[in-house]
Amino acid sequence: MSGTNQKQFNLDNLLDIAKSDRNELLTSIFNDWDRQTLVEFAIISTQSITEERSNYRTLNTQYNTAQTRAQGLAFVKEIGESLSSTLDVNEILIRLLNRVSQELDVRNGSVMLVEKGSGDLVFQTSIGYPSMKPFRLPHGEGLAGEVVMTGKPIRVDNAQSDIRHFKKFDNRTGFLTETVLYAPLTGRDKVIGVIGVFNKRHGLFTDSDEILLNSVGRFAAIAIENACLHQDVKEERDRIVEIQQEVSTRLQRDLHDGPTQLVASLQMSIDFCRTALKKDPSLLEEELNSMYELAQKATHQMRTLLFELRPLVLEAKGLVPALQELLARHEGEGPRFHLRVRSDLPSRTVTRLSVRVERTIFAIVQESINNIIKHAKAHNVLVKLKQKNHRLNLSIIDDGVGFDVSDLKGSYETRGSYGMLNIKERADVTGGKLTVKSAIGAGTEIRVVNIPIPSQ
Ligand SMILES: Nc1ncnc2c1ncn2[C@@H]1O[C@H](COP(=O)(O)OP(=O)(O)OP(=O)(O)O)[C@@H](O)[C@H]1O
Ligand SMILES: [Mg+2]
Repeated sequence: MSGTNQKQFNLDNLLDIAKSDRNELLTSIFNDWDRQTLVEFAIISTQSITEERSNYRTLNTQYNTAQTRAQGLAFVKEIGESLSSTLDVNEILIRLLNRVSQELDVRNGSVMLVEKGSGDLVFQTSIGYPSMKPFRLPHGEGLAGEVVMTGKPIRVDNAQSDIRHFKKFDNRTGFLTETVLYAPLTGRDKVIGVIGVFNKRHGLFTDSDEILLNSVGRFAAIAIENACLHQDVKEERDRIVEIQQEVSTRLQRDLHDGPTQLVASLQMSIDFCRTALKKDPSLLEEELNSMYELAQKATHQMRTLLFELRPLVLEAKGLVPALQELLARHEGEGPRFHLRVRSDLPSRTVTRLSVRVERTIFAIVQESINNIIKHAKAHNVLVKLKQKNHRLNLSIIDDGVGFDVSDLKGSYETRGSYGMLNIKERADVTGGKLTVKSAIGAGTEIRVVNIPIPSQ
């Protein structure tokens, strides 16, 4: 081997030769190379091996990362399928926590959901703890509260030295919390709860644990929201069936007590007339007059029933004309009825609301008036509607015998009557607040205040 270029050429190609044919390389080394060339070859070979090792390490790390990601994705997919195959919220929470605890190899875990209204986190299910169902975390407190507020996961290596950790939690469970990983359950537009895993069996929680729990949290929240929606629809359907049954029971009772009795009396009067026609026709005129009154009363009662079943005037003209007609129809059944309407609109009228809300307000007045006629022995009834600052207030006041409100609340389970319960539920539908004020001998006032009026 001679000349620098030749040597360079050889050195540049030595590795290729070494890879392709070892014998040729060895033959060349022993026959042709001088000491200098051998040293240069050794240096280049060492550099090349070091580079290859480093490449190998990088590839190995990339492979491990890709494998962890693929496993994570497979897990998230599996859990997503499992959760969306049921519409039972409890079942979803149990499946979720069991699988996550297994996968992340932890001793303890829990799922809490945000309570509507209070915003408190309420325990739903847990692993590795005694039953925690009644336990709740006040709004915004503890690490879990922070997760709800920020919508981001939290990882803590030593909960005992973290002031955000809710210490009462450990007192309550009798377990010492060390490592913590929380992820939000983020639904369509807000955080609906938190999943937490604690005390990893080996080592600390890692970045990939955090990514995994966070991804699972998203799937789980959607599955939980779907199940809750399904539950709401089911309850609404049951409620509609219940209302239909109530309406038909009431209709049956009203038809039995009202028009049916009148028609039966008419039948008896007709029999009487037949006999009188043969024996003493002078009795006929008086009997026919009273028959006419009976028929008139029966017609009025049936029309009122039809009106109450579907008050067409309510849909066509709104609340005030419908209430006027309702009160007019009950005139002569005991008390005197008065309607007072106030409004801060220049037109002095009450704004038209959605069909559902108008129908509900009408039904509250209807129910209250039925109660007054049935129980109150009142002389006067005042129905007030007042619109102010985009809010509507409704009152139904009577000067009758009154009743003990607290007594009534305590006895609902055993009463089998629904009137006041219906009023409560209906008030909720209007978005207003119900108060019932009554005292024995001092009349009754039913108010639904602050019913929102949407701006036009
Ligand atoms: N305006 C009122 N004056 C006096 N007592 C009333 C009045 N409204 C309700 N009550 C009392 O409250 C009770 C409960 O009323 P609620 O409407 O729930 O049941 P109900 O009228 O007895 O039965 P239902 O409405 O199911 O036919 C009545 O039984 C009555 O004692
Ligand atoms: Mg009633």
